[in-house]
Order: sequence, then structure tokens, then C-alpha cells
Amino acid sequence: MKILVTGGAGFIGSNFIHYWLQTHPQDDVVCFDALTYAGNLENLKDIENNPKYLFVKGDITDRDAVFDAVKQVDVVVHFAAETHVDRSIMDPGIFIRTNIMGTQHILDAVKEYGKRLHHISTDEVFGSLKPEDPPFTEKTAYDPQSPYSASKAASDHLVRAYVNTYGIQATISNCSNNYGPYMFPEKIIPLFISNLMEGKKVPVYGDGHQVRDWIFVDDHSRGVDLILQKGTMGETYCLGGGNEVKNIDLTKKLVDLLGKDDASIEFVKDRPGHDRRYAIDYAKAKETLGWEPLVTFEDGLLQTVEWYKANQEWVARCKSGDYQTYYDEWYENQLAMKH
Ligand code: NAD
Ligand code: DAU
Repeated sequence: MKILVTGGAGFIGSNFIHYWLQTHPQDDVVCFDALTYAGNLENLKDIENNPKYLFVKGDITDRDAVFDAVKQVDVVVHFAAETHVDRSIMDPGIFIRTNIMGTQHILDAVKEYGKRLHHISTDEVFGSLKPEDPPFTEKTAYDPQSPYSASKAASDHLVRAYVNTYGIQATISNCSNNYGPYMFPEKIIPLFISNLMEGKKVPVYGDGHQVRDWIFVDDHSRGVDLILQKGTMGETYCLGGGNEVKNIDLTKKLVDLLGKDDASIEFVKDRPGHDRRYAIDYAKAKETLGWEPLVTFEDGLLQTVEWYKANQEWVARCKSGDYQTYYDEWYENQLAMKH
């Protein structure tokens, strides 16, 4: 089988490619990625000479490039997206172009050539849970709250519309917060690990009592694999870690693992429209695919911290250049507006 992985040079995409080449060595994998600030060929350096792997630099907003790439494979796993909520608040336009228009090109191409698609989405499309609410399921109504989650919700609706209208062969997964190696140091876990390694403070938004459901990235990859093997066309699968953690508790764990103390924690102005709680009920994936997360938060977090300690030059390169401009605009503003 030949599989096209869009966004394969990013965090989850690069972990997925490593996972796929290890678990399906007979398959050919093509990584299609525009190499935005979040895409990094260093993430795939160890496999660049693998004869079963090919990199194609391409943008999903370029319709012809998408058609050329999709035509040559059997299956498309679509990770490519703008993914950081804070950036979507600063500049929604690129989220709409990439996440919605780009996905339309993927859909038109799989429709044209009759290919199988798996669309990667997020639990953020469901909005925010109250403390007493049950976790999200595949039946939860969409209620996206940020420009990022609204753009992902739109892309999910388009996938379902193409299944319903044109009968394309597609599935969707909505996954909770991933963590692990190669995560760009703008999201909370890698940002906080790298700040602590650099002797900087960590900016906790608001009261720090927001909850996220953390899943180790390899568990996500295995879920996508099982959906490709056993999933029913047109169906959606919710994948989660079964692991709800308050941001402040996560922060304290990281501070501890990095050998620092609470003086490293700085409470800053809240993210506008900040979703309070996400949690996933993955019963459908468990019952129909035999999937459940296997990596404990303790093991996964330790493994992640060790990876960032061993890859400080990778982190430094990610945090240079354009990132610094973004950091200055966003985080310095947050730090300046403490409670
Ligand atoms: P990421 O930001 O680390 O990587 C995104 C990748 O997409 C990068 O390699 C980037 O270069 C590429 N890309 C961006 N725009 C592109 C374009 N126009 N054309 C081609 N490539 C482009 O993101 P991630 O965290 O790995 O997320 C991957 C997918 O998983 C996204 O669809 C995201 O919505 C979804 N998701 C992420 C999480 C999470 O916790 N990170 C959870 C659930 C779902
Ligand atoms: O739920 C899945 C989603 O998880 C994915 O779809 C997104 O692509 C991914 O970015 C992630 O979104 P979040 O907004 O939950 O992730 P982030 O790491 O940005 O923030 C996690 C929590 O930590 C959130 O409550 C905001 C808070 N936070 C974040 C940063 C960057 C802080 O308190 N301080 C920070 O500096």
C-alpha cells in the first residue's frame, strides 16, 4: 500500500510516519508538507534514506500539487493544518485557508481519483465542557469556540458532506491533546519544558484550572492505524487519553520533573475565549476497533521530558527566527498583564 501523509513533517505527522514505517515496513509512505514554521524535516532525518519513504514539498492550498500527490497513492491520512489556538486568535485567515480550503482540495482529489481518506480532527470542535458534563462522544453536537476549532469543525463538516453527497471513502477521528517528542515548543508541554530548561518562568493562563485530556502521540497513531484497518466508511471515532489533568497540576509535575520549584510558575492573563475543559469518551473506538490508550501519563511525560532534554538544539532552532517574533507579540503581552 502507498500512503500519503499530509502534514507529515509536523508533530503528530512525523510521529505517525515513524510509527507506520516500523509497523508496516512493506508500505510506501509519502510525506506531503509545506514546511511552515511547524514543519521540520529534522523530525524525519533518520528515515530520509529509507527506500520506502519519500518527501514531497507541497502546500494543500495548491490544488494542482494536491491532485498530483493524491493521484499516486492508495490512501491519504490528512494531518496538515494550522494547529495553534493562540495563533488563530492573532490571525484567523491562514487557518481558514489551510484548514478549510486546503481540506477541500484533498476532498476533491480523493473524489476524483477514488482514494481512501482518513481526516484527522480534534476534540476542540465540541467546545467546552462544564465540570459536571459527561465527556465528548461521537454524538456530541459541534460547538467550536476559537477560530482554530471553528476551522477544524468546518473541515469535518466538509468531509461528511463529501461522504454523503459524493460517496467518497472517508473516516474522521477527533482526538484529545497529544504530547510526545517533536511537538513544537509553543504548546503548553514543550513550551514549559523548554522554558524550565532555559531557567525561564512558565506562563499559566488564567487560574490554571482548565482541564485537558492528555494522550501520548503513539496511542493516537495506533488509533488511526486501527481505523484504517477496521473503520466503517463515513464514521467518526473519538480518541482520548482517559486522562483529565488540570493545567496547574500538569505545570507542577513539569516543574518537579525539571528540578525547579513553584517560583518558576507565573499566572498571566487568560487566553480569550479559553475553553475550560475537554474530555473524551472513547467507548466506540474500544468496542468497534479494540483500541484504548496504553501509555500512562507518568511514563509518557517522563519519556517526553527526556526527549526534550536530549534535543535542546532542536528546541533552540524551533524557538529562533519567526517564532521569536510571535513569542514577543503573544507571550510578552501575556506576562505583562498578570492578575
Ligand atoms: P503541527 O502544527 O505540529 O504540524 C502541522 C504540519 O502541517 C506541519 O508540518 C506544517 O508544515 C504542515 N502544514 C501546515 N500548513 C500546511 C499546508 N498549507 N500544506 C501542507 N502542509 C501544511 O500540528 P500537529 O499538532 O502535529 O497536528 C496535526 C493534526 O492533528 C492537525 O490536523 C491537528 O488539528 C490535529 N490534532 C492535533 C492535536 C494536538 O494535540 N496537537 C490533537 C488532535 C488533533
Ligand atoms: O484538544 C486538542 C487540541 O489540543 C489540538 O486540536 C490543538 O491543535 C492543540 O494545540 C491543543 O490545543 P490546546 O489549546 O488545548 O493546547 P495548548 O498547548 O495551546 O494549551 C493547553 C492548555 O494550556 C490550554 O488550557 C491553554 C493552556 N496554556 C497554554 C500555553 C501555550 C497555558 O496556560 N499557558 C501557555 O503558555
